[in-house]
Amino acid sequence: MNVLVVGNGGREHALAWKLRDSPRADRVFVAPGNAGTAVDAENVDISATDIPRIVEFAKQNDVRLTVVGPEAPLVAGMVDALQDAGLRVFGPSKAAAELEGSKVFCKNLLRHADVPSADYQVFRDAESAIHYLTERDDNPVVVKADGLAAGKGVLVCRNRAEALEAVQRIAGDREFGAAGDQLVIEERLVGQEASVLAITDGRTILTLPAAQDHKPAYDGDQGPNTGGMGAYCPTPLVSNSMLDKVEETVLVPTIHQMKRNRRPFRGILYAGLMLTKGGPKVLEYNVRFGDPECQPLLMRLKSDLLEVLDAAVDGRLDEIEPLEWDPRPAVCVVMASEGYPGSYEKGHPIRGLDDAGALPNVKVFHAGTASIDGQVVNTGGRVVGVTALGESIAKAKLAAYQAVKHIRWQGAWCRKDISDKAIS
Ligand code: AMP
Ligand code: GLY
Repeated sequence: MNVLVVGNGGREHALAWKLRDSPRADRVFVAPGNAGTAVDAENVDISATDIPRIVEFAKQNDVRLTVVGPEAPLVAGMVDALQDAGLRVFGPSKAAAELEGSKVFCKNLLRHADVPSADYQVFRDAESAIHYLTERDDNPVVVKADGLAAGKGVLVCRNRAEALEAVQRIAGDREFGAAGDQLVIEERLVGQEASVLAITDGRTILTLPAAQDHKPAYDGDQGPNTGGMGAYCPTPLVSNSMLDKVEETVLVPTIHQMKRNRRPFRGILYAGLMLTKGGPKVLEYNVRFGDPECQPLLMRLKSDLLEVLDAAVDGRLDEIEPLEWDPRPAVCVVMASEGYPGSYEKGHPIRGLDDAGALPNVKVFHAGTASIDGQVVNTGGRVVGVTALGESIAKAKLAAYQAVKHIRWQGAWCRKDISDKAIS
């Protein structure tokens, strides 16, 4: 069957690369893709948020399965539009994607489902939020814009002064526009973070091994937040018994509550967790694969991903054999453009991609790249995700960084400590 992956990041390169592996895959399209997906699949020049053209393309090219990578088209209703056109698509409906699209919706749902999460309050204007902050104890809080803000609408505050400033930015200055129409102020949790993702058809849940992302830009979790500078999987921070507990106390009640709310959830349910002294608590839900968590996860997956996603679309995940995983851990190191997550220059030629990719047990997933006159150049902040398997996390880390050494462009940089929290 023909398959279409929507998006242009490292996650979508990994999805296309893995789906292409299926004996059932004929053509694998990526819209719009990058220089890596142009090699492992076929790029289609349509933006990931252009719903009418995606639907048209899928109809005209006999696409039997569309997989939507990023949150924006999901929250905008791409899945509904494809389904309305009689097409098969893996991902949540617009109503179900609210779980990521609205933090207020998510927090209220977690409360109703009795899923462990930080205590919170919702505000519709700056005055009531300021009043609340002035009245309560001066404990650290996190202030969040309700809507999608490209990962920037979450402000972690050390004290009241910082919290008041955060309220001003979201509700006063309207830094995040309409995403700040409501805001959430919640208790600041302490612990290690981990990502637990599951594939679900709304009835059956296939929980994937836990991964750990590295959101801050610099080593030792210093510097500004990014989309994620690297990830590894599985993380020993989440034991098998803890993973069972997350499934039982987090994922299952969430899926049930979504069903009760008449917003059945199909797709990837991604729980961003804080591993607190009192057990794992949900920081947020995403409704898609994590980027870069997807890259090490799919590097380890041995089962036929197309088979699994296809079954999820038909609501028959219960018929699928348990997922098979490479026992070896995988580490993904993101190489970024100089200046990222701020502004950066584009168009620098990238060298050494073939040498890096030729190393054993290494795959270079492209993110912000394009091929111009036969030359691969950087076009985004996160440029490539160098991913390696190894007998241990330490060996996978070593292999990934050895591959990183081959890749060069003007201003390229990466964190040097991806996966160290697992090793120490
Ligand atoms: P989110 O987009 O909601 O996952 O938030 C982005 C990042 O903010 C998370 O990865 C955490 O590092 C941090 N964060 C969010 N909520 C909290 C919280 N309640 N306590 C501590 N840190 C948080
Ligand atoms: N890796 C974090 C995210 O995909 O949101």
